[in-house]
Amino acid sequence: MNQKIIAVVYHSGYGHTEKLAEYIALGVAQVDGVTGVLLSVEAMDWDILAASDVIIMGCPTYMGSASAPFKAFMDASSKVWLQQGWQGKLAAGFTNSGGLSGDKLAVLMQIQLFAMQHGMLWVGMPLQPTGTNPDDLNRMASYMGLMAQSDNAPAEFTPPSGDLKTAAWFGEYVAKTALRWQ
Ligand SMILES: Cc1cc2nc3c(=O)[nH]c(=O)nc-3n(C[C@H](O)[C@H](O)[C@H](O)COP(=O)(O)O)c2cc1C
Repeated sequence: MNQKIIAVVYHSGYGHTEKLAEYIALGVAQVDGVTGVLLSVEAMDWDILAASDVIIMGCPTYMGSASAPFKAFMDASSKVWLQQGWQGKLAAGFTNSGGLSGDKLAVLMQIQLFAMQHGMLWVGMPLQPTGTNPDDLNRMASYMGLMAQSDNAPAEFTPPSGDLKTAAWFGEYVAKTALRWQ
C-alpha cells in the first residue's frame, strides 16, 4: 500500500505555533502507513500539497483572525481553488493564542470555511477534555480543531504539556482517520 502523505502547514511568528505543528507531526509519525511533512507557509512547496492526501493547517490567532502570512497562503491557494485541485483531500485545523479564548474559534472557523471552499473533507477533534489545567488534554474543550494557549514567554516554556500532548493526539487521530478513508 502506498504511504499516505499528511502535510502539516503552519505559520508561526514567534515559534509557539511551530512547536504545536511539530507535536502534531510527532503524532502523525506514530502511525504506520503515513508520511508526515512539516511545511511553513513562508517556504511553501505547492507540489507537496498537491501530492498530499491530508492537509492539517494552523496559525496563531492574531487580532481575532488568522495571522497575515497564513492569510497570504490562503489567498495564494486561489489558483488551486480555480481547478479544485484539493477537492476530496482531508483537512483539519489548529490555532494557538495568548488568551484562553483569545477568539481562537473564529480562526478555526476561518480555516474550516477555507477547506470547504477547496472541497475538502473536514476532520474534527473528538477528544474528551480531562480537565482545565495546563497538563490536561483538550483543556479548552475544542471540537472543531486543536486549540492551544501560550503564555507570554519563549516557546521553550509554552504552550504547556497538556496542549502539546493534545497536539500529538490530534496528529495521530488525523493520521488514523486518513487510513480509514479510501
Ligand atoms: C499581532 C498579534 C496579535 C495577537 N492577537 C491575539 C488575539 O487576538 N488573541 C489572543 O489571545 N492572543 C493574541 N496574540 C498573542 C499570540 O496569539 C500568542 O503570542 C501566540 O502564542 C503567538 O504564536 P506564535 O509564536 O506562533 O506567533 C497576538 C499576538 C500578536 C503578535
